[in-house]
Amino acid sequence: MGDRRVNAAVIGVGLLGEQHAAQYVANSKADLVLVHDLNADRARAVGEALGCRWTTDLADVAASDAEIVSIATPDHLHHEAAIRMLEARKHLLVEKPLATKTAEANEIATRSREKGLKVTVNLGNRWNGQFQSIHGAVQDGEIGDPVYAYCRCSDTIWVPTQMLSWAGRSGPQWFLFAHTMDLLRWFLGQEAKDVYAVGSKKILAERGIDAFDAIQAVVNFERTFVTFETSWIIPESWPAIVEFEITMNGSEGRLGFDGIRQGFELSSDKVGKHMFARPSLWSYFKLPDSWWGSLHDLVDAVIEDREPAIPVEDGAAVTAMIEATERSIAEGRKVEIPRA
Ligand SMILES: NC(=O)c1ccc[n+]([C@@H]2O[C@H](COP(=O)([O-])OP(=O)(O)OC[C@H]3O[C@@H](n4cnc5c(N)ncnc54)[C@H](O)[C@@H]3O)[C@@H](O)[C@H]2O)c1
Repeated sequence: MGDRRVNAAVIGVGLLGEQHAAQYVANSKADLVLVHDLNADRARAVGEALGCRWTTDLADVAASDAEIVSIATPDHLHHEAAIRMLEARKHLLVEKPLATKTAEANEIATRSREKGLKVTVNLGNRWNGQFQSIHGAVQDGEIGDPVYAYCRCSDTIWVPTQMLSWAGRSGPQWFLFAHTMDLLRWFLGQEAKDVYAVGSKKILAERGIDAFDAIQAVVNFERTFVTFETSWIIPESWPAIVEFEITMNGSEGRLGFDGIRQGFELSSDKVGKHMFARPSLWSYFKLPDSWWGSLHDLVDAVIEDREPAIPVEDGAAVTAMIEATERSIAEGRKVEIPRA
């Protein structure tokens, strides 16, 4: 097993896919063999920069010697590529969300289990030390039984209007609840039962983007209720791209995470100044190596022939939560969340 290596390919080498490709190059047990993008200039640029073959034809990826394929296309296109690659017997790392329909997410899970292929989702927050501390504290009962929680994760309006060309095919629910609903489900170790949500579409719609401006969703888990909030209209002058906040109250304690003021902050009595500088948008999107736990875990899982740390069913459960949230907004009532 010591010398076993795996070949990898990436489908969709935009902002995130290029970083997937670079992470395979950095992994001492993996070889990046091929990158794919519908945009030939993009595929060529990344392939040449990282020294691997490139293609615009998905059939080349299916026929390649890659054992693992990353899928980093826009949110609503994950399912199509995933099913095609499972047919070609590839193990998959799918960007979050696993899919944007519960039926599609369940199909990916079922097909991969039938074929004995490994599928995991790129949920780097599970490798963030702060979130691992929260998970440990909750699981160890340090706050007693969790009673209720609040979780807000939002982006500035720069994300839907300038960063994502496909924002109108997604929304803050797919882009951000995909992280936070996974995190809270993981912290609590409970399944989500039902959701009541409200949302508005006005400010982005006026800019020609068919996406929610903001959503608040109250999710009942088995023993804990959680309010999730997300927005894509935080002003650009806000000193970070993301605002992220969690509080959880239990029968014997409370915990919180404050990810609101991200950036460089200096307070100096010596020179009598206080300054705050946000990181450049570009450097923010070069995610740190520690973020890439799902990718490196999948390489190890294939080599060791074990289950990935994040099973495909976790991705399907979160898709079910988000789709039920959309239905609740549309129907103005509480909606049950189907079990993945
Ligand atoms: N894990 C995270 O924290 C994180 C952060 C940002 C984005 N993402 C996810 O990564 C995915 C990609 O986001 P992005 O910001 O890189 O978007 P992007 O627009 O920068 O890149 C998408 C790329 O896919 C290509 N593409 C489009 N349709 C395709 C198809 N059918 N086949 C092959 N290539 C295709 C585009 O040409 C583009 O190069 C999304 O699902 C997004 O939600 C995850």
